[in-house]
Amino acid sequence: MSEQTLTITDNRTGQTIELPIENDTIPAIGLRQLKVQADDFGMMVYDPGYTNTASCKSRVTFVDGDRGILRYRGYPIEQLAEKSTFLEVAHLLLFGVLPTASKLTDWNARVMAQTQIDRGLKALLKTFDADAHPMGILVSTVGAMSALYPESKQVHDGRNRLQQAVRLLGQLPTAIAFAYRNRLGLPPTDPDGALGYSDNFLHMMGLSGDGEVDPVLARAMDVLFILHADHEQNCSTSALRNIASSDADPYCAVAGAIGALYGPLHGGANEAVLRMLAEIGSTKNIPAFLDRVKNREVRLMGFGHRVYKNYDPRAQIVKKIAYEVFEVTGTNPLIDIAVELEGTALEDDYFVSRRLYPNVDFYSGIIYQAMGFPVEIFPVLFALGRAPGWLAQWMELMSDAEQRIARPRQIYLGEAERPYLSMDERG
Ligand code: CMC
Repeated sequence: MSEQTLTITDNRTGQTIELPIENDTIPAIGLRQLKVQADDFGMMVYDPGYTNTASCKSRVTFVDGDRGILRYRGYPIEQLAEKSTFLEVAHLLLFGVLPTASKLTDWNARVMAQTQIDRGLKALLKTFDADAHPMGILVSTVGAMSALYPESKQVHDGRNRLQQAVRLLGQLPTAIAFAYRNRLGLPPTDPDGALGYSDNFLHMMGLSGDGEVDPVLARAMDVLFILHADHEQNCSTSALRNIASSDADPYCAVAGAIGALYGPLHGGANEAVLRMLAEIGSTKNIPAFLDRVKNREVRLMGFGHRVYKNYDPRAQIVKKIAYEVFEVTGTNPLIDIAVELEGTALEDDYFVSRRLYPNVDFYSGIIYQAMGFPVEIFPVLFALGRAPGWLAQWMELMSDAEQRIARPRQIYLGEAERPYLSMDERG
């Protein structure tokens, strides 16, 4: 008998089956052989929230949550954050390799050539009220691109896939900045293809006033985007893969991913953290707030992670960037509350025993706020950073011969068959 197998005995029947082990997993479909009656459906696994289910084989991003390790295509996040640019990382995620100098020049030019948005998109963005949440606007924006670019439906054409990916990377910052300025009643600022990606984004947002964007802020933005660029099979990426598995076009798939990201347990956490810190208001209120967390009245937003049971390596880098940004913008008083909140929580048995540490969202909002972004736009910045990861995962999915339409099973616990009740028979 080969050692790379798992033997399972069904104690209901005494039946024994042997399943192959590959990459520390067994094929779930193999369990279906386990039946009590010959006409039974067969055994399945029950895994709400997919806590222990591998849904794909991927070569994009590696996370070791116990050791606090994150790598894109094998490169440690710390090195990419220190040495790379966001578009270079986007190239790495999409193509699997760091570009040579000339390839990077071409790649930057290719993305920056796509920064103009369609007239129809501008018209759509103008229809939103000033109080519309930017994530709702972003879902609509990307969904609308499906209608504007119907050729994106050629999802089995590799060249077409790349064309759509570049278009989305190029247009997203422009659409976000257009929507933001429109909300404020300001005229749009045209993209400047000669600038770097983040530089151009801050320029279009108009957060630098009339002058040039401070290079420290442009670099901070770039690094924050790098830190958000991918995180393997998280909620939004899994949503994207589910949608794209039906051969839906990438704009519909990314719009769905943005919807998943919007929630406060995922990308909406950066906005929720800022609101939480503002509500705490002062370091003296921290103990009372943590008591509420421990009484399960509220969650400590920006803490905890499904995968990381150690310090999120991204949070460490974000915390360091915060102080670099404050050198330019002046400090954000909420940082003192955040630092003390973190320190107090990390000494408290509630958080220690559950291995809850700050995640990427804990400090990022404090930086965004210092840079002048309004709180409700924070999740949009997460989405902008995550776009290359979503697109890389989509491309991987589309060229994976083992992938099929996503279609989980359920455990049906509802009524057995019963006859229809006429109106006068109902209680
Ligand atoms: N505050 C208080 N308790 C928490 C928190 C928190 N932030 N996170 C987890 N717990 C507790 C939870 O109550 C549970 O305790 P018990 O076992 O006694 O019932 C235990 O820790 C395990 O939590 P869980 O909810 O089963 O863990 P999960 O893996 O299902 O959820 C999470 C992960 C990120 C949704 C959760 O930690 C959370 O809600 N965090 C706050 C929101 C947040 O910061 N989200 C951003 C995540 S990082 C960015 C991204 O990629 O999305």
